[in-house]
Amino acid sequence: MIAVALITVGASSGCTTDPDPAARVWKRRCAACHGPDGAGRTRFAEGRPYADLTDGRWKHGPDRAALRRLVAQGDPASTMPPFAGTLTPEEIDAIVDWTLSLPDRAGRGSAR
Ligand code: HEC
Repeated sequence: MIAVALITVGASSGCTTDPDPAARVWKRRCAACHGPDGAGRTRFAEGRPYADLTDGRWKHGPDRAALRRLVAQGDPASTMPPFAGTLTPEEIDAIVDWTLSLPDRAGRGSAR
């Protein structure tokens, strides 16, 4: 519940904090590697086609439980870090849903 309190404080202090927790987590924890749109065009994702989360091709998913496990534990074979200690289970749920919606957001949902 600390996170909820922080969000409330952030919003009321006129901070530009995104009201959607998933969008906030994405910007702060994921966009540096996966890019703002999730297409993975960053130097951290070079040569890692699965870092493109908008192509509808999943190495670990699209099964939600597998993606949740990946985000929590990371992938030791790549730079994908574990977030179990950084994000709450609720934030991980939210970011997994967000991740699964990226192909549609990028307008590539039909390419599946
Ligand atoms: C330090 C860079 C880095 C950060 C930060 C990072 N990722 Fe990743 N992520 C990667 C790389 C690289 C891969 C590709 C792994 C591979 O090649 O198997 C990956 C893979 C993934 C996959 C698997 C895609 C598939 O095809 O199954 C998901 C889902 C994912 N990341 C979600 C996230 C989320 C959500 C966050 C933020 C909470 C995040 N990542 C933060 C580098 C990162």
